[in-house]
Amino acid sequence: MNILAFESSCDETAAAVVRDGRTVLSSVIASSAEMHAAYGGVVPEIASRRHVEVISSLADEALRQADLNKTDVDAVAVTYAPGLIGALLVGVSFAKSLAFGLGVPLIPVHHVQGHIAANYIAHAGLEPPFLCLCVSGGTTALVDVQDYTRFEMMGSTRDDAVGECFDKTARVLGLGYPGGGPMDRLAQGGDDQAYPFPRAHVSDNPLDMSFSGLKTAVLNTIHTAQQKGESLILSDLAASFAAAVSDSLIPRVMAANTLTGYNKITVAGGVAANSRIRADLERACREAGAKLWLPPLALCGDNAAMIGCQGYYEYQAGHTAGWDLNAKANLDISNRAFSSTSAPSM
Ligand code: KG4
Repeated sequence: MNILAFESSCDETAAAVVRDGRTVLSSVIASSAEMHAAYGGVVPEIASRRHVEVISSLADEALRQADLNKTDVDAVAVTYAPGLIGALLVGVSFAKSLAFGLGVPLIPVHHVQGHIAANYIAHAGLEPPFLCLCVSGGTTALVDVQDYTRFEMMGSTRDDAVGECFDKTARVLGLGYPGGGPMDRLAQGGDDQAYPFPRAHVSDNPLDMSFSGLKTAVLNTIHTAQQKGESLILSDLAASFAAAVSDSLIPRVMAANTLTGYNKITVAGGVAANSRIRADLERACREAGAKLWLPPLALCGDNAAMIGCQGYYEYQAGHTAGWDLNAKANLDISNRAFSSTSAPSM
């Protein structure tokens, strides 16, 4: 089954062709990140306009690279939630009209579920159930992946997502947007004990997390030094920040793993590329005797291959949508925001 998939929830427009769930025939991405860099974060209107400009040619390019025609497409999958509403709407409208025109099923995909599915592409033997740490620009969550289309949230951030903290800190340091990669590189060789940043605890759910205090602490450290004319050792600052993030995540991952009893752990989302988090998780899993699957860096960020992969499993479960499908800015990972319809005839 050939699925033509689209992703447009934030600042990446992406299209891909995925065969039978796990074989990626093509995957193309156009990022508007550079257009947002001057503003230090994503400007929703700019992202939406850019999606409109490039999505059609990306669809053609994905088919060309897969060596397929439109008539070879068996279904169209699209990210419909969560994300920037205008950006999502571009992908949903385009996918809807394409599926209608081709007379093939339309498969809505939850963006974070797509990130989790990136692991299926990378690891042939991986099957649910497993625990997934989802860390991106908008999400920080511990997800019990009970089946390909059944998810339960075990814990999440009460305030900022970790990716947002990396991006805000990078912005203040003048490292550009998105800032996670540059912060990661800056941290290499830095002293991770140099700055005593806080590790927050949430009392009523030990698996929930909080990062706003850490963000404030690192920003205060930078501003105070600027005001006093003191210089900071930036590699130490970045390493101490990464250590505080990792120390907040890893013990909760291991506690959630114990609760599930799966001893199978994956990571998903843009921040899954972080070298400190990957190294700490590898060590913790080795010590606990848990099996860890890490996504390759190329599949950590937003892409449409992961949407095609998850779309395949949604299709298998009968989760296709009618032509009234709408985009949704916020949607819990365990919920669906469309009514399943019997697939239109192909
Ligand atoms: O998954 P993604 O591409 O988009 C969302 O769905 O949010 O994640 C983007 C986030 C950004 O906040 C970016 O700064 C962060 O992932 N990121 C990183 C690294 N690479 C990207 N954060 C920490 N370390 C990295 N190496």
